[in-house]
Amino acid sequence: MANILHTLFNSEQARHEQVVLCQDRASGLKAVIAIHSTALGPALGGTRFYLYPTEDEALADALNLARGMSYKNALAGLDHGGGKAVIIGDPQKNKTKELLQAYGRLVASLRGRYITACDVGTNTADMDVVASQCRWTTGRSPQSGGAGDSSVLTAFGVYQGMRASAQHQWGTPSLRGRTVGIAGVGKVGHILVQHMVSEGAKVVITDVCKEAVGRILAAYPDSVTAVADTTTLIRVANLDIYAPCALGGVLNDETVPVLTAEVVCGAANNQLAHPGIEKDLADRGILYAPDYVVNAGGAIQAADELHRFDPERCKAKAMKIYDTTLAILHRAVREDIPPATAADRAAEERMLQSGLPGGPKTSGLVTPLFFSEGL
Ligand SMILES: NC(=O)c1ccc[n+]([C@@H]2O[C@H](COP(=O)([O-])OP(=O)(O)OC[C@H]3O[C@@H](n4cnc5c(N)ncnc54)[C@H](O)[C@@H]3O)[C@@H](O)[C@H]2O)c1
Repeated sequence: MANILHTLFNSEQARHEQVVLCQDRASGLKAVIAIHSTALGPALGGTRFYLYPTEDEALADALNLARGMSYKNALAGLDHGGGKAVIIGDPQKNKTKELLQAYGRLVASLRGRYITACDVGTNTADMDVVASQCRWTTGRSPQSGGAGDSSVLTAFGVYQGMRASAQHQWGTPSLRGRTVGIAGVGKVGHILVQHMVSEGAKVVITDVCKEAVGRILAAYPDSVTAVADTTTLIRVANLDIYAPCALGGVLNDETVPVLTAEVVCGAANNQLAHPGIEKDLADRGILYAPDYVVNAGGAIQAADELHRFDPERCKAKAMKIYDTTLAILHRAVREDIPPATAADRAAEERMLQSGLPGGPKTSGLVTPLFFSEGL
């Protein structure tokens, strides 16, 4: 407990408005909901279901992810703050209807301060169960009136971020003839491949799942090739764009020095392994399109679902990721800072302009921190 309180009240990174710990012994639910900021509106972010090695790591993940959602939602132009939930457990073994219902009751107890959605380990069918107990649920299946899988819009947004990066780096948004390396061809990555192929780009893919690679090679034998792993992909000669679409932390002290790509733009969350990496990328002349700017399509879709999902309205909003990315890249040049810093500044400005408490610079001073436990 002492460690948790210390993390909450003393960490620079963890200036969250509210953190809720919950357990439901009957169903085995153990969950953390972190609300980083409600400066722009109710906190919006997904539910991660994951077997964390320790409870401290689960809490740290919830805090980091919630903070990231504040920034993502702010720059996506959404009237939502940032929040995230983690359920501790193995989704394959521990995910039951009873547990998801108990989780739904927990989210409902917050009366709309936190709105949930899918994330790693949860899917639209799970959100249908959560929604049976809680109206503040998105990411539901189309059969239940939801928007369904968000990967299509996420991939579309990353594609717009790539076009903006190309415009900034090479003076044209066209990706024709460019070589794009995609690490991870799961739900988002495989749709990104489709966008690249239709743009006339050459695509190099890798994935730990050999079936996923095989399916793509069979679908696009002329324009896609595969390499064994990400270590190989990031060293491919003449790679123009590297798109991390699997795990976070992939831009680190080992990978940045050997990257051959001129541009990094992908869907994975939290790509920068630690503070300072954004400067290492800039020092090497590598243009980094901040992850949370370009992968906001899923958040845009979740927010839209609250107002009767309209795919065309969503696509129009995700299209704006092109303008936002370009504006961030221009600002970075103007202020002589890395793009990741420019994005953080722009997001913080929007949160502070709201005039409400909870902006990251003021929250430590004026926003009370609540800490509650149990359902
Ligand atoms: N789905 C969304 O709407 C969305 C929105 C925002 C951000 N993201 C982020 O984008 C990334 C991809 O999301 P997704 O929904 O496509 O996930 P996914 O699980 O469907 O796909 C990830 C793929 O990466 C592969 N992979 C895992 N480890 C790998 C490794 N070491 N090397 C190469 N490939 C590896 C997996 O086999 C899988 O095919 C995640 O980081 C996710 O957090 C997704």
